[in-house]
Amino acid sequence: MNKLVNQINDLLLQSIPSSPLETNLEESMRYSLEAGGKRIRPVLLIETLKMLSKSDNYEKGIQTALALEMVHTYSLIHDDLPAMDNDDYRRGKLTNHKVYGEWKALLAGDALLTKAFHLISTDGSIDAQTRIKLVELLSDASGHLGMIGGQTLDMESENQNISLETLQHIHKEKTGALLTFAIMAAVTIVQPSDDVSELLEDYSQHLGLIFQIKDDLLDVYGDEDKLGKPVGSDEKNHKNTYVTLLGQDKTEQKLDYHVKQAEKCLEKLREASYDTSQLEYLTQLFYQRDH
Ligand code: IPE
Ligand code: IPE
Ligand code: MG
Ligand code: MG
Ligand code: MG
Repeated sequence: MNKLVNQINDLLLQSIPSSPLETNLEESMRYSLEAGGKRIRPVLLIETLKMLSKSDNYEKGIQTALALEMVHTYSLIHDDLPAMDNDDYRRGKLTNHKVYGEWKALLAGDALLTKAFHLISTDGSIDAQTRIKLVELLSDASGHLGMIGGQTLDMESENQNISLETLQHIHKEKTGALLTFAIMAAVTIVQPSDDVSELLEDYSQHLGLIFQIKDDLLDVYGDEDKLGKPVGSDEKNHKNTYVTLLGQDKTEQKLDYHVKQAEKCLEKLREASYDTSQLEYLTQLFYQRDH
């Protein structure tokens, strides 16, 4: 997986060449794309693709994986802006707006989002119909019914009392939607049976919750140096999180529950003779991570 992460890092930077306009917008886009991110979304896409196709050749997934990391990176640039979570550090460095200013951070995010769709639509390794389907799925996952919808609810519920059900909905959208895309993009490329596709969708939803519940815990109990982003951001912004709603112990129980459910999905995939070892490893990584 380290080799894959290095390759993703290299390709991401190469995908933003300097423009003839001679602005430093590309520098600002590359600044946020640079190593420091865990790259779990592209890795999840590629590992799911390898599992489903029972092959080590992941050429058909790489452009989409890069596109997904661009959408994720753009979402972080905007999430950190003063108008949203107002954070100064990300991936161990000053946030984009702290270095380049707010308007350029907004534009760098916009440009990364747009570039993502360019990458998928020009991917010569997959047929046109698959490309169109991937564009549809990524726009749904990142748009008002997905990540942006979740981010809107997250902002609107600052200082509000909300139910656990509503919070779970926020987490599913703001974080789960892009993780589900990672897995369903691989499903779209390989087209396994409906049963396998449904199992993977179910798995991805548990994975999304595992990831964001852990993020909520790390925001309280994590180590800033390891995280590369501030601890206490949620408290500062009066956010609703699993920790504020349930406390640490019950939050950890919820985390355990979703890990068990995710493992059950993988068990069924194993019974269908898929090699789930890498997805098992990633599930544990999501669960045990300290950054
Ligand atoms: C942070 O995502 C934002 C959330 C959805 C919780 P990551 O924890 O994947 O951030 P990077 O990409 O590794 O910086
Ligand atoms: C952000 O959630 C999710 C997205 C950017 C879509 P958070 O606001 O909790 O993420 P961090 O903690 O700043 O990484
Ligand atoms: Mg946020
Ligand atoms: Mg934030
Ligand atoms: Mg957070």
